[in-house]
Amino acid sequence: MALVTTTEMFKKALNSDYAVGAFNVNNMEIIQGIVDAAIEENAPLILQVSAGARKYARSIYLTKLVEAAVEDTGLDIALHLDHGEDFDICKKCVDDGFTSVMIDGSKHPFEENIKMTKEVVDYAHDHGVVVEAELGRLAGVEDNINVDERSATFTDPQEAKEFVERTGVDSLAVAIGTSHGAYKFKGTPYLDFERLDEIHKLIPEIPLVLHGASTVIPEFVDKCNKYGGNIPGAQGVPEDMIREAVKHGVCKVNIDTDIRLAMTAEIRKFLVENPEVFDPRKYLGPARDAVKGMVSHKIRDVLGASNKR
Ligand code: G3H
Ligand code: 13P
Ligand code: ZN
Repeated sequence: MALVTTTEMFKKALNSDYAVGAFNVNNMEIIQGIVDAAIEENAPLILQVSAGARKYARSIYLTKLVEAAVEDTGLDIALHLDHGEDFDICKKCVDDGFTSVMIDGSKHPFEENIKMTKEVVDYAHDHGVVVEAELGRLAGVEDNINVDERSATFTDPQEAKEFVERTGVDSLAVAIGTSHGAYKFKGTPYLDFERLDEIHKLIPEIPLVLHGASTVIPEFVDKCNKYGGNIPGAQGVPEDMIREAVKHGVCKVNIDTDIRLAMTAEIRKFLVENPEVFDPRKYLGPARDAVKGMVSHKIRDVLGASNKR
């Protein structure tokens, strides 16, 4: 049992029929729900922390909670920084004991992205930590893009090859049509699998990462709306599309929004049905169970990662 890097996890997942789930964590209940699911499914696990999560929870609390999860459960867990925006935050996380960091230079020009990524790779590798980078931009729903615009924002396969060669990065997040949050598509969901396939064929040894991979599970959206929420028209990546992506080199699938929805739906329902309750444990407990159920479902039925630990 230990905090581990993703190296072994990805080695096994690459060119196999499953992917490792990377779940965003912000508090104790989320961590416990996810960890309980990983135990139940006997699955490899990445817990990831964003800059926003570090700010909200205060960074040391999340690190210590994840360390507690390792000690309490005996699981091997990779602790990953999600979307590090510069060298400083990546360095801080390496120094704090993270086993994996993401340097997200995707909003910068190609050469600058290479430069920042290389700097982080050099520091992280010197400290036994692995690095994920991103190339291409994740388009939001408001970007109703046509084919030409798509080429401008989605990951260019030749650039991806050059990028990994020049940076020495361990894994690469690609833009093929997913986006963050609960509003990913206005009309029919579309992912560019041809492009994904081309990237995978050019850099077959590099684990690919799919950000913005929540399905925005309708059951949770409906439950939120039924119990006083207002999130109309939310739509994510259909589960079949995630399964398809896993067949084309995607080894890490990032999930945050589905956790938020599962928790919020449960808390909304509980509070409406139990207006007299004011003990947070009474609604955070069921919310933790809801996270566990949702994550088990992802691992088992979507990522195919049950019993791959
Ligand atoms: O990639 C975005 C993740 O969902 C993290 O979101 O920055 O609100 O913590 P956050
Ligand atoms: P979702 O918003 O689809 O859950 O994506 C999360 C993510 O990519 C975290 O980096
Ligand atoms: Zn992301």
